Formats: sequence, structure tokens, C-alpha cells
Amino acid sequence: MEPTRPQAKQTRKQRGQFFTPRAVAKQLLQLASTDLGERCFADLRGGCSVLDPACGDGAFLEAALDEGWASDATALTGFDLDDTVIAGPAGATLEARDSLRSFSQLRGGFDVALGNPPYGGDGVRNLSRGALSRLGRDFETWRVVEGGRPLRSDARAADRLLRFPIATLFAELFVGSVRPGGVSALVLPESFFANRRDGPVRAWLLRQARLISLTELPPNTFAGAGTRARTIFVVLQRRPSVLRAMEDACAQDPPVRLRRLGASGFETERSVEDLQRSYRWDPGYHDPAWLDPTDLSRLPCRRLGEFIETLAYGAIRVGQRPRLVSAGGALYVTQRSVADWGVDLDLCPRIAEEPPFVAPRFRLAPGDLVVPRCGRGTLGRNRLTRFDGSGDLCAVVDCFTDRVSLVGISSAWVLGVLRSELGWSQIRRTFNGVGTPNLSFGEIRALQVPVPDDATAVEAERIWAAVGDGTEDIEALRALVRTAIN
Ligand SMILES: C[S@@+](CC[C@H](N)C(=O)[O-])C[C@H]1O[C@@H](n2cnc3c(N)ncnc32)[C@H](O)[C@@H]1O
Repeated sequence: MEPTRPQAKQTRKQRGQFFTPRAVAKQLLQLASTDLGERCFADLRGGCSVLDPACGDGAFLEAALDEGWASDATALTGFDLDDTVIAGPAGATLEARDSLRSFSQLRGGFDVALGNPPYGGDGVRNLSRGALSRLGRDFETWRVVEGGRPLRSDARAADRLLRFPIATLFAELFVGSVRPGGVSALVLPESFFANRRDGPVRAWLLRQARLISLTELPPNTFAGAGTRARTIFVVLQRRPSVLRAMEDACAQDPPVRLRRLGASGFETERSVEDLQRSYRWDPGYHDPAWLDPTDLSRLPCRRLGEFIETLAYGAIRVGQRPRLVSAGGALYVTQRSVADWGVDLDLCPRIAEEPPFVAPRFRLAPGDLVVPRCGRGTLGRNRLTRFDGSGDLCAVVDCFTDRVSLVGISSAWVLGVLRSELGWSQIRRTFNGVGTPNLSFGEIRALQVPVPDDATAVEAERIWAAVGDGTEDIEALRALVRTAIN
């Protein structure tokens, strides 16, 4: 019996079944052949063997045939876990199987691996511990560290694999299934290219393969398939042998092509070194439309980190909350209390003055900036503020809020900078592409801030005081910054 619609949706989610529209698969393969260049593509064209290890209904296999990646359908192989969806051009080898568990038989066996693997769903959760341990031996990416080097497999393989993203295992499978010189071209979640957490795996990829191009797909590409996942199509060519160090790729590889498709599309190039230095491979981060902050300001710019005396967020204790009190105690500053005119103390709960939640490091001093660490509604809307409570008032930040204590620069000025285009475009660029907006300490320190003259700094402080007593608006501070930097 056909599953009912909600059931079908549930099954699709469990198996990560979001099929690529046929026209999109074709367009991506056209771009990949341009990016690979005539010579490389001529080597592959014709007699090449093509694998899609998670082929679904065969959009990429069809596109491979249409676009001349294979001379006929017998050169195509498609696997999918689900025999009810598997399809592809007549004559192709199509088989229902778990590609991850078949990795050892697939290694180096194809000229090209193409497709769009699952990103979520049950993944490896239904496998026995024995099967997980075998996967742990076959795959490396779950155990790589900084620099892309794998640690030795250990007894925790099964537990770690259960939490490991299935898309990353598939990325390894795509690269490992092609021969040296062969090409892997696949769609992966944008976060894989933007998150610091995935940096070691990206370094691992660079050691195995040359990065040819990265293409950001429009956000609505898979809307028809029921997801708004943001995705990037990556093209890689396997190296003749694995590089000793990721840095060798920075030194020897030619620039990588980056593009965005659709509205506000662009195409540009970046060196591997640039990509690695910024910890970002997502094309959006390298969009030429982001202006260099130092070009936007006639005042000299310096890294905010040079002025930071203390940077801290509140205590985190799993399963423990601060004890609320009805009078006295300390004010607990949460993102909710961040207002355009300062910290709304009426919205701060009172907590007992005891560790770990109340400690000198978390205690706000007058003039400290209060910066939400994450979240769409606060950081995502540029809601940063300054604390101006009196010195004897004890107020501490919670674990979602940063306390930024500055010396040698007016914090009202810095607030004005961060809340105007020059600062905000830097903040937006940093969290652009990562699922939940967040700013790490390193990213806060790296923000470029113009340094004002004394009179401008005094004026920033005056305006902020007026914003605090309601006689001026935050817009006045922004206007001061705009005038001073232009
Ligand atoms: C995102 S869909 C993409 C399908 C197809 N490549 C496309 O682009 O239209 C991912 C496919 O992977 C299949 N799949 C999930 N886990 C798998 C596994 N371990 N081995 C093989 N296929 C798997 C799902 O059934 C699903 O059809």
C-alpha cells in the first residue's frame, strides 16, 4: 500500500531523500565541465565510468549521460539504500545497497563520482555496533584533527560515528571511490563549508584532492522536494597521491573558482591559502560585494581585539541553573534585556550571588559592551548594546551573552561602529552561511574598527548618554559614525 502523505514525508526525512531537480543536475554538470577545463574533461569524456552512490531517482546519472560524462548508459552505476526510489537511464547498473557499508569494494573503482548524498535522516543509527566498528575502520573523516590528519581508530568509533554527519561520510566516499586523477562532484550542506567545526575535514579533503570549484545553489533549489537546505556543489579532482600536509595544497594548487547561482549571483576566484586562512570555503563569504571595511573608512582601522581587556560569556553548567531570589542578589543579564538604549534592568531576573554564575569575570562594568553570542532575533538583528549601570550594581552576563570590556577606545563609539553599516556588514559576513548566527571570540577580535579622534570619541559618549536618557535615538550614534568615517 502507498504510504499516506504525512507518512511519505516522514519516510523521506528518515532517509534524507530530497531529490535534485533534473534541470539543476544538468546545469551543475555543465558548470563542472567548464571548471575542470577542456583538457581534464577531454580525458574523462567518453569512456568514463560514473558512480552515484546515493542515486535516488537518478537525476545525476541522467545528467551524466546527457552531458557526455559517459558514452553510454552501461558506464553508469547507481546505488541507493531504498529500492522503492532507485531509478536511472535504461542500461545503467542500478542496485539497492548501503553504499557506506560497501566503501571497501568501491575504493578507486570509478573515474567519476557524482550526486547529492543524504544530509540527515537515520544515517547510520540503525546499524549494529559491529557494523559501526567496521565503518570506523573503513572511514577516516570521523577521526581527523586540525591539519586534516586522522587519529588512530579506537574503541569509541561506534559512539562517535552515531553522532557524525552522514553527509561527511559520503563526501569521503565520493572522493575515495574515484581513481587518482578522477573527479568527484557533489552537493553538500553549506554549513560543511562554513563551519569552523568542519575545518579539519576540509583540510583532509585538500590532502586527498584538488579543489576545483564551489557553486552556491539558490536557497529554493530543493523547495519542491520539501527542504530549504542551503547547499553548495563542490568539484574535486583526486590527487595522484595524498599530500603530506594540507599546507602543500596552499603552496601548489591553482586558484579555486567560486560562484553563486541565481539572484545576486557572482563568479570569482580565491587561492586555497585564502580559503584556509579565513576558515571559510562558502562562496557567500567571498562575495566580491562585501566591501573591505578599511576601504569604507577614511579613519585608520584597527582590530577590535587590540582594545579588548576582557571577553567572556556567563557560566555554563549542564543541568544547573542560577538560584532565583526575590530581593538583593545579582542581576542576570540575558539577551532579552538587550535594548537599543542599553540593558533593560527591569527584564533581568535576580539570582543568588554565588558561584559559578556570579563571578568577577562575568560581572559587567559600566561601559562594557553586551553582545548576544548567537541567535536570529538578537545577534541576527544587530541588537548589541552597552551596559551603564552604576559601579556598585552587580550584574552578570548569562551564557548566551558576551561581556566585552574595552580599553583605549570609547565603547560608545565602538557600539556605533558595530551598529552601523561598516561593523554590521562584517558581522553579517561572518555568520552568513552558518545555520544559527553566532560570533566566536576570534571573530569578535578580528572585527575592524576605525579609530576616532578625541573630539569624535567625546561626541559618541555624549550621544550615547542622550540615547540612555531617551533624548536621542541610536540613529544619532550611527549618523555620527557615518559622518566621521566619510
Ligand atoms: C538527497 S537524496 C539525493 C538523491 C539523488 N542523488 C538526487 O540528487 O536526486 C539522497 C539519497 O540517498 C539515499 N541513501 C541514504 N542513505 C544511503 C546509504 N547509506 N547508501 C545508499 N543510499 C543512501 C536515500 O535513499 C536518498 O535517495
